[in-house]
Amino acid sequence: MIKTVVAAPAIVALGAAVTLLSHQLMAETEVNAQDAYLDSEKSVLEQAAKQRIGSFAKELGGTLKTALADGGFPHGVSMCKEKAPGIAAALSTDGWHVGRTSLKIRNSSNAPDSWEKAVLEGFEQQKADGAAFSSLVHSEIVEQDGKRTYRYMQAIRAGEFCLSCHGASVDPSLVEKIKSEYPSDQATGFAAGDIRGAFTITKSL
Ligand code: HEC
Repeated sequence: MIKTVVAAPAIVALGAAVTLLSHQLMAETEVNAQDAYLDSEKSVLEQAAKQRIGSFAKELGGTLKTALADGGFPHGVSMCKEKAPGIAAALSTDGWHVGRTSLKIRNSSNAPDSWEKAVLEGFEQQKADGAAFSSLVHSEIVEQDGKRTYRYMQAIRAGEFCLSCHGASVDPSLVEKIKSEYPSDQATGFAAGDIRGAFTITKSL
């Protein structure tokens, strides 16, 4: 008799503890499942983003090479101006928006928004801290204009070849050409290995 009196509250307490624990486990499992779902959603989106960026980079590079072969660097500037926005637009389909941006821009319509600016500043910091260039990527699902939106950025390295038009000692006649096309150009003074800017891509989900 005494035994059951003592045991009953203990059993109730044990029962409550088990219930609590199982709820906690269930909640954790739910959070883990949600995390796993988000991770896989993000990795699918990242693959798609990288693919579009690959096509963008390839087309830009091809256009630039043809232009340089046809008429040298000044012609390259004209062709970049004429073709780059159209190439980006042609790849901005199915809810995706493809572009390039930088902390020092040539074309003012490539100016970073506040999210992009923060990511670019983050890349500069990571690079200064010794991060490998290939690790300068960032993706996030954010709320934008009331819509769930996937955003991805990938840093673009200034190579030796880019410096003819973006370096510290651009040929004076080319500077003149650039200034005539882009009066408020900020995109010179780069050195090889610098972060020239980034590919930036969004998709509303
Ligand atoms: C022939 C000159 C020329 C060369 C060479 C060149 N660029 Fe550019 N770059 C331009 C012009 C012109 C624009 C502006 C294009 C536009 O109007 O969208 C530009 C724009 C950019 C932008 C977009 C951001 C902004 O400032 O508007 C990035 C990023 C960029 N260039 C990176 C590079 C990289 C990386 C290389 C080397 C692989 C390179 N460029 C080589 C002329 C050049």
